[in-house]
Amino acid sequence: MSTNFETIKFEKNGDFAVLTINREKSLNALNSQVHMELKDLLSVLKENVDGIKGMILTGAGEKAFIAGADIVEMTDMTSDEAYDFATLGQENTLLMEELPFPVIACVNGFALGGGCEMAMSCDFIYATETAVFGQPEVKLGLIPGFGGTQRLAKLVGRNKAKEILYTGRNIKIDEAKDMGLVVKSFSSIEDMMNAANETLTKISHNSPLAVALSKHVMNTGNDLTVSEGLEVEAKYFGEIFSSYDMKEGTKAFVEKRRAEFKGK
Ligand code: HXC
Repeated sequence: MSTNFETIKFEKNGDFAVLTINREKSLNALNSQVHMELKDLLSVLKENVDGIKGMILTGAGEKAFIAGADIVEMTDMTSDEAYDFATLGQENTLLMEELPFPVIACVNGFALGGGCEMAMSCDFIYATETAVFGQPEVKLGLIPGFGGTQRLAKLVGRNKAKEILYTGRNIKIDEAKDMGLVVKSFSSIEDMMNAANETLTKISHNSPLAVALSKHVMNTGNDLTVSEGLEVEAKYFGEIFSSYDMKEGTKAFVEKRRAEFKGK
C-alpha cells in the first residue's frame, strides 16, 4: 500500500496504525487533497487491513485536531464543486465507519466543523482537556457537509444537536463529555495517545472477527428501526457460530485457558 502522502501521515506500529491529518500550518483544515489522499488510503484499508487491529485518527501539532474544511478553498467553489467536495468528505466518513477494526479519534485541540464531523465518524472519541468541539458553519453562511447534520443528532439527541448547529457555539470538554460526544479526557496529548493504545491493545485481545462484526452491526443498526436492527444482529449472531473464533472462545472458557483468536 502506498503511504507516500503529502497532507496525511500513515504510520503502522505493530498491530496498530496512526493516521494523522498533516497540515499543521492551516490547523489541519481539510482541503480536497486531504480528502483524496484519505480516500485512497481508506479504500485500500477497507479491503486489505494488512494485519491492522486498530487505528488512531489525530491531527498534527498541539493546537488542532482539524479546524474544519478548508475555508480558503471553499471561498471560490461553485455549487457543483461544493456538492462534489461534500460528497467526497462524506465518502471518507463512511469508509472510516466501514473499516473492519476500531478507530479512536484522539482530539488534540480544535475539532470544528469538518473536524468534529471526522471525529464523529470514528468509533469513539478521546480528547485533551483543552479540546474544543463545534459546528460553526452557520457563522460562515454554510451548513455542515461531512455528516454533521446527521451524526451529531444520533450521538447527542436531535434537539441538543439543533441548538449546537444553529448557534455554532464552541463546546468545551466537560460539556462534550456530559453529552456523550467524548468518552474520556486527558491532561496531555501523550497521556491520551498512551490511553488510546492501551484501549486498542485491550480490544485486540478479543476476537477481531467479533469486534469487526460488533462494529458493522452497530453502524448498520444506526440507520434502521430497532426491530430491523435486531434482525441484522440475529443474522450475524447466527453466522458467527460457523467461525473458528467462536469455537475457540467458548472452548477456552470451558477449558479455563486464554483463547487464541485468529480473526476468522
Ligand atoms: C483554512 C484555516 C482554517 C480553516 C484555521 N486556518 N482554520 N484555514 N480553513 N478551517 C488557518 C488560519 O487561516 C491561519 O492561517 C492558521 O490556520 C492559524 O489559524 P488562526 O486563526 O490564526 O489561529 P487562532 O487565532 O488560534 O484561531 C483558531 C481557530 C480559527 C479558532 C480554530 O482558526 C478558526 O475559527 N478557524 C475556522 C474554524 C471553522 O469555522 N471551521 C469550520 C469550517 S466550515 P494563516 O495563513 O493566517 O496563518 C466546515 C464545513 C465542513 O468545516 C463541510 C464541508 C463540505
